[in-house]
Amino acid sequence: KPTVIITVDGPGGAGKGTLCQLLAAELNFALLDSGALYRLTALAADKQAVDFDNAQALATVAAELDVRFDAGEPGQGVTTWLQGEQVGAELRTEKTGAQASVVAAVPAVREALLQRQRDFAQSPGLVADGRDMGTVVFPAATVKIFLTAGAKERAMRRYLQLKDKGVLSEKQLQGDGQSGTLARLLEEINLRDERDTNRKTSPLKPAEDAQVIDSTEMSIEEVKDQVLQLLAART
Ligand code: C5P
Repeated sequence: KPTVIITVDGPGGAGKGTLCQLLAAELNFALLDSGALYRLTALAADKQAVDFDNAQALATVAAELDVRFDAGEPGQGVTTWLQGEQVGAELRTEKTGAQASVVAAVPAVREALLQRQRDFAQSPGLVADGRDMGTVVFPAATVKIFLTAGAKERAMRRYLQLKDKGVLSEKQLQGDGQSGTLARLLEEINLRDERDTNRKTSPLKPAEDAQVIDSTEMSIEEVKDQVLQLLAART
């Protein structure tokens, strides 16, 4: 039986991460969080005080990245190890996300991470979360999803995710702090989407054969059911 691959691409905050975790758990598939590889490359580069304008140095960091993902118990979330040290909440901050999108625009970095991503494919299947999963990394995927949501909704989802991960301070959680934080998140997400969409190498865009799902008015469970129906129709 060939390995089934489901790719989920789309802009930040659309709910890709949650969707992919649900799909992987339900189907008993492996999970590739490709964004984490770009985030970890950025964190490692930052730690090693690498100049973010130095493409060659960034590519070396990506090629030598020593990472380990521990799936843990269902619902517990993944534990990530970088260079033997456990990575905390810094992995998910918008600062790291912004740095990741700078690093991700470097072609040599993408090249260095390509095979590592393909190695995640394993029987019976893989759910791959990212920006270029359906276009570049797994062009022959079984089902390709491009997940979007309105910008405000994405900012709100990202806000709740950061809150959930304990990344936000008390001040950011209350009154003016909350609306200010939301407005800033919206700005940061838009900036990152713009950079991801306009870069030359592997820009963020739906694969020609991708199913575009606008999840603004949908629950993540509804999105999951739609993907499972698409999968059933193709396997
Ligand atoms: O999905 P996540 O927010 O973790 O991704 C962080 C950044 O990594 C994205 O903004 C994007 O620049 C980059 N990325 C990418 N290609 C992927 C996954 C993530 O360029 N497949």
